[in-house]
Amino acid sequence: MTWTPESWRGFPYAQDVAYDDQAELERVFGRLRSLPPLVTSWEIERLRGQLGDAQEGKRFLLQGGDCAETFADCNNGIIANKLKILLQMSLVLVQGGKLPVIRVGRFAGQYAKPRSRPTEVRDGVELPSYFGDLINRPEFTAAARRADPTLLLDGYAHAAYTLNFIRSLTAGGFADLHHPEYWDLSFVERAGLPEHLRAQYMQTSRQLSEALRFMEALGESSVDQLTRVDFYTSHEGLNLNYESAQTRTVPRRSGHYDLTTHLPWIGERTRALGGAHVEFFRGVKNAVGVKVGPKADPAEIVELVRRLDPDHERGKIVLITRMGAGEVEKALPLLVEALVRSERHVLWTCDPMHGNALTLPNGVKTRDFDAILRELEASFELHARLGTRLGGVHFELTGDDVTECIGGGIEATDLDRRYETMCDPRLNYRQALEMAFRLADKMKAAGSLSTP
Ligand code: PEP
Ligand code: CO
Repeated sequence: MTWTPESWRGFPYAQDVAYDDQAELERVFGRLRSLPPLVTSWEIERLRGQLGDAQEGKRFLLQGGDCAETFADCNNGIIANKLKILLQMSLVLVQGGKLPVIRVGRFAGQYAKPRSRPTEVRDGVELPSYFGDLINRPEFTAAARRADPTLLLDGYAHAAYTLNFIRSLTAGGFADLHHPEYWDLSFVERAGLPEHLRAQYMQTSRQLSEALRFMEALGESSVDQLTRVDFYTSHEGLNLNYESAQTRTVPRRSGHYDLTTHLPWIGERTRALGGAHVEFFRGVKNAVGVKVGPKADPAEIVELVRRLDPDHERGKIVLITRMGAGEVEKALPLLVEALVRSERHVLWTCDPMHGNALTLPNGVKTRDFDAILRELEASFELHARLGTRLGGVHFELTGDDVTECIGGGIEATDLDRRYETMCDPRLNYRQALEMAFRLADKMKAAGSLSTP
């Protein structure tokens, strides 16, 4: 069947939101179509090349950010802190895995959320659920919860503000690896960071800058490449009006690019084979992520990969498994074996967050650091055992000192201190850094086993 950026409109649309003003939606769609792209095909191709490397064991993907970005949190401190934690984690992983790390933020567009129920009831009043700032607003009033098409334009604008700041910071040397003193000292010296993490991190960054100086002294020409810090963007491609309005052909290349982001992904709730999301994403040239939970039928995932990547393209599919610590041992091998049998090559990454939701007796939604780590370590080991490779990780995290997940320094009684997420609980700065160190230890141990 012929694909067009709008052929998805003929397919069942999971997580659809009912816009009550179609004329306004069409006007917004036309406007979004005429606005310049947020990212370029060059960047999308470069990322795809790097994901291809990761698939071959030559790079490692670090993807992370908020569960739901909000317009209110679009400010310099919050964005800069997210870049810093991603950068710091990536340095720890570079050191552990001895591989370049691809940094991809869940940012500049992570504004649309799938919900388990279309409506929410409070004190007998039923209103549409909050579907993210791209769709409606979180306040519990009929006006706020109405699906407002103009929020698609506001989402585009906030993604552009965010990207503009990220691009300026990185171009301006914010993360120049020659000058770790610019970006690490004040940050890791903040209160609350335990001494062992601080010391470990300082040692890592010192070793890295010494290694850089050494290579430069040798006249190594690739140092520039090595030290250039890129951040790519990603979000769940949930609202297909938003995605398709920015999906275009570009001069001197074939095919269509989704120019809202470098790496869109299809969520666990919208990856039905016959659905609108799969129809849309089978037609774009971007690499595409797919979330896969423990209930997925492996044969269906094989078919899904075939549908999204009929030509076996390098760096095209990122399978993001989110099985949960209790299910991963059973579910991941079945999936991996099915993909291997069908001779399908993907980049395997692990999202250890979404299978480990926990509701405390008082109703607070949280996640346990230890369960997250257990799934991560189990995924790493299972891939090694099965002859595949864990090539990346996907976290919900923030660079701020929030208290949303338990473990790694946070007790259940601490949660109400700074519980700020609009959706799922995120790792805070310390928890995220510690997670990176634990993973790096794992990589180091595996590396020394495989080196004769
Ligand atoms: C998410 O990444 O925030 C999300 C909703 O994940 P999943 O589709 O895996 O449930
Ligand atoms: Co989430």
